[in-house]
Amino acid sequence: MTNVHRAFPSNFLFGAATAAYQIEGATSEDGRTPSIWDTFSWVPGAVVGGDTGDVACDHYHRSADDVAMMKRLGVQTYRFSTAWPRVRPDGGAANPAGIDFYSRLVDELLAADIVPWLTLYHWDLPQALQDKGGWVSRDTADRFTEYALTVHDALGDRVNIWTTLNEPWCASFLSYTGGEHAPGHTSVREGLLASHHLLLGHGQVIRELRARDASLNLGLTTNHTVAVALDPNNPADVDAARRIDGQFNRWFLDPVFRGSYPADIVEDIRLVDAGAVEAFEAAVQPGDLDLISQHIDTLGINYYHGDLLAGSPPADPPVSADPTTEREVRSPYPSFEGIYNVERGLERTAQNWEIEPAGLTTLLQRIWNEYAKAAGTTLYVTENGAAFDDELVLENGEARVHDERRVAFLRDHLNATLDAQEAGVDVRGFFYWSLMDNFEWAWGYAKRFGIVHVDYETQVRTLKDSALEYRRIIGERAISG
Ligand code: NOJ
Repeated sequence: MTNVHRAFPSNFLFGAATAAYQIEGATSEDGRTPSIWDTFSWVPGAVVGGDTGDVACDHYHRSADDVAMMKRLGVQTYRFSTAWPRVRPDGGAANPAGIDFYSRLVDELLAADIVPWLTLYHWDLPQALQDKGGWVSRDTADRFTEYALTVHDALGDRVNIWTTLNEPWCASFLSYTGGEHAPGHTSVREGLLASHHLLLGHGQVIRELRARDASLNLGLTTNHTVAVALDPNNPADVDAARRIDGQFNRWFLDPVFRGSYPADIVEDIRLVDAGAVEAFEAAVQPGDLDLISQHIDTLGINYYHGDLLAGSPPADPPVSADPTTEREVRSPYPSFEGIYNVERGLERTAQNWEIEPAGLTTLLQRIWNEYAKAAGTTLYVTENGAAFDDELVLENGEARVHDERRVAFLRDHLNATLDAQEAGVDVRGFFYWSLMDNFEWAWGYAKRFGIVHVDYETQVRTLKDSALEYRRIIGERAISG
């Protein structure tokens, strides 16, 4: 390794992230009722290996140890989510026992000098609300607001940073149109309505929390791609990139920062399902977009990889036919027909996602320049990470995981974040996804993203080499070596 030393500014926050359903387990304890992910994971074939979140990392019973582990790692902030079906089981009345868990967790974090970063919705909608239509129903936005206020009643005195939604693209299109995530539906109409009602819930919660306490740091986390046309002079390739960019990036950023949905994407979808667009347009009521486009203090960016796109089948190299890539996920979307994901020969993770750190710099610059800067919104990388096939080895009686590819991944993406900062982007922190191996949604426990290894039989946690490297970077506040 060359001798580098790149320092982070003193206000830069280093964090790690998780989400309730992916780590907590204890799915029927202390009054918690099923979420759509419990129900979905019980459907044969929905999740690899038939895995469920029933036990997961057993974090519900081990939060004190997990916080102590984070303290040893030196993370300054911890991004976690509260589980709606614990806080308001079935979407109904508040549940003091469930709320207590988060109250203890927050106290433990504060005692360890770790800033709690709270996400209200990381996909675990109470099943009882799904039975009434879920996010397809406008009423769910109101139920979400009630739930958010209950969490704020309990934790508002100690938690300053609040994220309304995690990745609304996944919670709407991937879940209600792509069928890959709970509730596993495949309807264009449902995906469109869900996306609007999620954003409406976001806007309502921002308004209510702001009214309660103007000092709160309020925001949203969105997932993105960097859509690049194979040949910038070929109109079909440029159009393919436009459509992917519109669906993944602009569909959520435009309403939040500009108060409108991208007209070109609405028209694309109308061509394939006019009825769905009609229902969507009827669902967008006067005033909704004003609520949705209220000021947010923070935008969380989740970045994993970009896409090189063509509007016709590229001759060479051929498109990958590997069913484990996102290409398969996208195929149910009618508006994605005729778009080809071009193999660029980049290294890939165990999930077959391309590794492209420079894409993070490009993305941060683009979102800063086109959206956040004018709005006075600060950016954070709220997720970035990779699954690799880690191996636990015993060395002199000590368990070790030499995940050198994740070490490189982490360093490269932190460097990419610094590159964006040096280019003028106000990006103030980075959360590695994930603190520990956990339930990777439709992939179950087969994909390990953690910097901490979890033995699911014994629940023993082992710091991987990437955790040791992260600890070193945080300690030195620099990338060196
Ligand atoms: C996005 C999600 O927010 C998180 O829950 C998931 O595990 C990671 N990305 C990795 O896929």
